Amino acid sequence: MAGPYTLPKLPYAYHALEPSISQEIMELHHSKHHQAYVTNLNKALAASTAALSEGKLHDSAAQLSAIRFNGGGHINHSLFWENLAPASSPDAQTQAAPQLLAAIEATWGGLETFQGHFGAALLGIQGSGWGWLVREASTGQLRIVTLANQEAVVAGGEIPILGVDMWEHAYYLLYKNDKASYVKNIWQVINWRMAEARFVGRREDAFRALKTQAAI
Ligand SMILES: [Fe+2]
Repeated sequence: MAGPYTLPKLPYAYHALEPSISQEIMELHHSKHHQAYVTNLNKALAASTAALSEGKLHDSAAQLSAIRFNGGGHINHSLFWENLAPASSPDAQTQAAPQLLAAIEATWGGLETFQGHFGAALLGIQGSGWGWLVREASTGQLRIVTLANQEAVVAGGEIPILGVDMWEHAYYLLYKNDKASYVKNIWQVINWRMAEARFVGRREDAFRALKTQAAI
Protein backbone atom coordinates (compact mmCIF):
# COMPACT_ATOMS: atom_id res chain seq x y z
CA MET A 1 0.00 0.00 0.00
CA ALA A 2 1.62 3.24 -1.13
CA GLY A 3 -0.56 5.59 0.95
CA PRO A 4 -1.79 7.30 2.91
CA TYR A 5 0.43 10.26 2.28
CA THR A 6 0.28 13.19 4.65
CA LEU A 7 0.72 16.93 4.39
CA PRO A 8 4.29 17.79 5.41
CA LYS A 9 4.73 20.48 8.06
CA LEU A 10 6.24 23.71 6.82
CA PRO A 11 9.71 24.42 8.24
CA TYR A 12 8.62 28.05 8.91
CA ALA A 13 5.49 29.97 9.91
CA TYR A 14 2.87 31.01 7.35
CA HIS A 15 3.85 34.68 7.76
CA ALA A 16 7.60 34.03 7.67
CA LEU A 17 8.05 34.70 3.95
CA GLU A 18 6.44 38.16 3.99
CA PRO A 19 6.61 40.50 2.22
CA SER A 20 7.65 38.31 -0.75
CA ILE A 21 4.81 35.83 -0.18
CA SER A 22 1.91 36.75 2.09
CA GLN A 23 0.61 34.79 5.05
CA GLU A 24 -2.77 34.45 3.34
CA ILE A 25 -1.22 32.86 0.27
CA MET A 26 0.95 30.49 2.29
CA GLU A 27 -1.91 29.39 4.52
CA LEU A 28 -4.28 28.63 1.65
CA HIS A 29 -1.55 27.18 -0.54
CA HIS A 30 -0.35 24.74 2.10
CA SER A 31 -3.43 23.89 4.17
CA LYS A 32 -5.97 23.87 1.32
CA HIS A 33 -4.30 23.37 -2.06
CA HIS A 34 -1.53 21.00 -1.04
CA GLN A 35 -3.85 19.18 1.35
CA ALA A 36 -6.30 18.60 -1.51
CA TYR A 37 -3.56 16.98 -3.61
CA VAL A 38 -2.67 14.70 -0.71
CA THR A 39 -6.30 13.76 -0.02
CA ASN A 40 -7.09 13.07 -3.66
CA LEU A 41 -3.84 11.14 -4.18
CA ASN A 42 -4.68 8.85 -1.27
CA LYS A 43 -8.22 8.32 -2.59
CA ALA A 44 -7.03 7.49 -6.09
CA LEU A 45 -4.31 5.13 -4.82
CA ALA A 46 -6.82 3.32 -2.62
CA ALA A 47 -9.35 3.00 -5.45
CA SER A 48 -6.65 1.78 -7.85
CA THR A 49 -5.35 -0.80 -5.38
CA ALA A 50 -8.87 -2.01 -4.54
CA ALA A 51 -9.75 -2.40 -8.21
CA LEU A 52 -6.58 -4.38 -8.87
CA SER A 53 -7.32 -6.69 -5.95
CA GLU A 54 -10.68 -7.45 -7.59
CA GLY A 55 -9.01 -8.13 -10.92
CA LYS A 56 -10.45 -4.97 -12.48
CA LEU A 57 -7.54 -3.52 -14.40
CA HIS A 58 -9.90 -1.20 -16.27
CA ASP A 59 -11.09 0.44 -13.04
CA SER A 60 -7.53 0.64 -11.73
CA ALA A 61 -6.33 2.24 -14.96
CA ALA A 62 -9.14 4.80 -14.69
CA GLN A 63 -7.39 6.15 -11.56
CA LEU A 64 -4.01 6.71 -13.19
CA SER A 65 -4.75 10.23 -14.36
CA ALA A 66 -5.77 11.26 -10.82
CA ILE A 67 -2.67 9.58 -9.36
CA ARG A 68 -0.44 11.38 -11.83
CA PHE A 69 -2.03 14.78 -11.25
CA ASN A 70 -2.40 14.66 -7.48
CA GLY A 71 0.82 12.73 -6.97
CA GLY A 72 2.59 15.39 -9.00
CA GLY A 73 0.96 18.10 -6.89
CA HIS A 74 2.12 16.42 -3.71
CA ILE A 75 5.69 15.85 -4.98
CA ASN A 76 6.12 19.33 -6.45
CA HIS A 77 4.78 21.17 -3.42
CA SER A 78 6.80 19.05 -0.96
CA LEU A 79 9.95 20.02 -2.86
CA PHE A 80 8.84 23.65 -3.19
CA TRP A 81 8.27 24.32 0.53
CA GLU A 82 11.83 23.20 1.22
CA ASN A 83 13.05 25.58 -1.47
CA LEU A 84 11.87 28.58 0.57
CA ALA A 85 13.20 30.22 3.73
CA PRO A 86 12.62 33.53 5.54
CA ALA A 87 14.66 36.31 3.95
CA SER A 88 16.49 36.99 7.23
CA SER A 89 17.63 33.37 7.56
CA PRO A 90 21.28 32.50 6.78
CA ASP A 91 19.79 29.79 4.53
CA ALA A 92 18.36 32.50 2.26
CA GLN A 93 21.79 33.97 1.51
CA THR A 94 23.58 32.87 -1.64
CA GLN A 95 26.74 32.21 0.39
CA ALA A 96 24.95 29.09 1.64
CA ALA A 97 25.36 27.51 -1.82
CA PRO A 98 29.04 27.91 -2.84
CA GLN A 99 29.27 24.82 -5.07
CA LEU A 100 25.94 25.45 -6.75
CA LEU A 101 26.82 29.09 -7.36
CA ALA A 102 30.10 28.05 -8.97
CA ALA A 103 28.21 25.65 -11.25
CA ILE A 104 25.66 28.36 -12.13
CA GLU A 105 28.52 30.69 -13.00
CA ALA A 106 30.19 28.03 -15.13
CA THR A 107 26.89 27.34 -16.93
CA TRP A 108 25.39 30.78 -17.40
CA GLY A 109 28.26 33.15 -16.65
CA GLY A 110 26.75 34.53 -13.46
CA LEU A 111 23.86 34.37 -11.00
CA GLU A 112 22.01 37.35 -12.47
CA THR A 113 22.20 35.92 -15.97
CA PHE A 114 20.84 32.61 -14.69
CA GLN A 115 18.06 34.43 -12.83
CA GLY A 116 17.19 36.21 -16.07
CA HIS A 117 16.93 32.93 -17.98
CA PHE A 118 15.02 31.23 -15.17
CA GLY A 119 12.62 34.16 -14.86
CA ALA A 120 12.00 34.19 -18.59
CA ALA A 121 11.24 30.47 -18.49
CA LEU A 122 8.82 30.95 -15.58
CA LEU A 123 7.04 33.84 -17.28
CA GLY A 124 6.87 31.87 -20.52
CA ILE A 125 4.75 29.12 -18.99
CA GLN A 126 1.33 29.15 -20.60
CA GLY A 127 -1.36 28.52 -18.01
CA SER A 128 -0.41 26.71 -14.81
CA GLY A 129 2.90 24.98 -14.29
CA TRP A 130 6.30 24.90 -12.67
CA GLY A 131 9.84 25.95 -13.45
CA TRP A 132 12.79 23.95 -12.12
CA LEU A 133 16.52 24.10 -12.01
CA VAL A 134 17.65 20.50 -12.31
CA ARG A 135 20.97 18.70 -12.40
CA GLU A 136 21.61 15.82 -14.76
CA ALA A 137 22.84 13.08 -12.45
CA SER A 138 25.06 11.49 -15.10
CA THR A 139 26.81 14.62 -16.40
CA GLY A 140 26.36 17.08 -13.53
CA GLN A 141 25.00 19.57 -16.06
CA LEU A 142 22.50 22.17 -14.83
CA ARG A 143 19.35 22.80 -16.88
CA ILE A 144 16.17 24.85 -16.62
CA VAL A 145 12.98 22.89 -17.29
CA THR A 146 9.33 23.90 -17.25
CA LEU A 147 6.48 21.49 -16.66
CA ALA A 148 2.77 22.05 -17.25
CA ASN A 149 0.09 21.75 -14.59
CA GLN A 150 1.23 19.26 -11.93
CA GLU A 151 3.56 17.18 -14.05
CA ALA A 152 6.11 16.05 -11.48
CA VAL A 153 9.80 16.78 -11.73
CA VAL A 154 10.65 13.09 -11.71
CA ALA A 155 12.32 12.48 -15.07
CA GLY A 156 14.87 9.72 -14.61
CA GLY A 157 18.36 11.02 -14.03
CA GLU A 158 17.27 14.54 -13.13
CA ILE A 159 17.75 15.92 -9.64
CA PRO A 160 15.43 18.83 -8.76
CA ILE A 161 17.48 21.63 -7.23
CA LEU A 162 15.09 24.55 -7.13
CA GLY A 163 11.45 24.93 -8.19
CA VAL A 164 8.97 27.77 -8.48
CA ASP A 165 5.21 27.27 -8.52
CA MET A 166 3.63 29.32 -11.32
CA TRP A 167 0.01 28.44 -10.59
CA GLU A 168 -2.09 31.53 -9.90
CA HIS A 169 -2.81 30.25 -6.39
CA ALA A 170 0.91 30.79 -5.64
CA TYR A 171 0.86 34.55 -6.17
CA TYR A 172 -2.47 36.01 -7.27
CA LEU A 173 -3.78 37.17 -3.87
CA LEU A 174 -0.72 39.39 -3.47
CA TYR A 175 0.53 40.14 -6.98
CA LYS A 176 -2.69 39.89 -9.02
CA ASN A 177 -1.63 39.71 -12.68
CA ASP A 178 1.90 41.00 -11.96
CA LYS A 179 3.65 37.65 -12.31
CA ALA A 180 6.96 39.38 -13.01
CA SER A 181 7.08 40.88 -9.50
CA TYR A 182 6.37 37.47 -7.94
CA VAL A 183 9.21 35.98 -10.00
CA LYS A 184 11.52 38.83 -8.96
CA ASN A 185 10.63 38.84 -5.26
CA ILE A 186 10.78 35.10 -4.71
CA TRP A 187 14.58 35.31 -4.90
CA GLN A 188 14.47 37.02 -1.48
CA VAL A 189 13.13 33.83 0.09
CA ILE A 190 14.99 31.08 -1.74
CA ASN A 191 16.59 28.52 0.54
CA TRP A 192 20.09 28.34 -0.93
CA ARG A 193 21.27 25.91 1.73
CA MET A 194 18.65 23.39 0.56
CA ALA A 195 19.50 24.06 -3.09
CA GLU A 196 23.16 23.34 -2.31
CA ALA A 197 22.27 20.14 -0.45
CA ARG A 198 20.26 18.89 -3.43
CA PHE A 199 23.00 19.92 -5.84
CA VAL A 200 25.68 17.90 -4.06
CA GLY A 201 23.36 15.11 -2.91
CA ARG A 202 21.88 11.98 -4.42
CA ARG A 203 18.62 12.06 -6.35
CA GLU A 204 16.84 9.98 -3.72
CA ASP A 205 17.77 12.48 -1.01
CA ALA A 206 15.89 15.27 -2.78
CA PHE A 207 12.70 13.25 -2.40
CA ARG A 208 13.32 12.19 1.18
CA ALA A 209 10.28 13.97 2.62
CA LEU A 210 8.05 11.79 0.46
CA LYS A 211 9.93 8.63 1.36
CA THR A 212 9.37 9.19 5.04
CA GLN A 213 5.66 9.53 4.46
CA ALA A 214 5.49 6.38 2.35
CA ALA A 215 6.97 4.46 5.25
CA ILE A 216 4.18 5.52 7.63
FE1 LIG B 1 0.77 25.34 -5.78
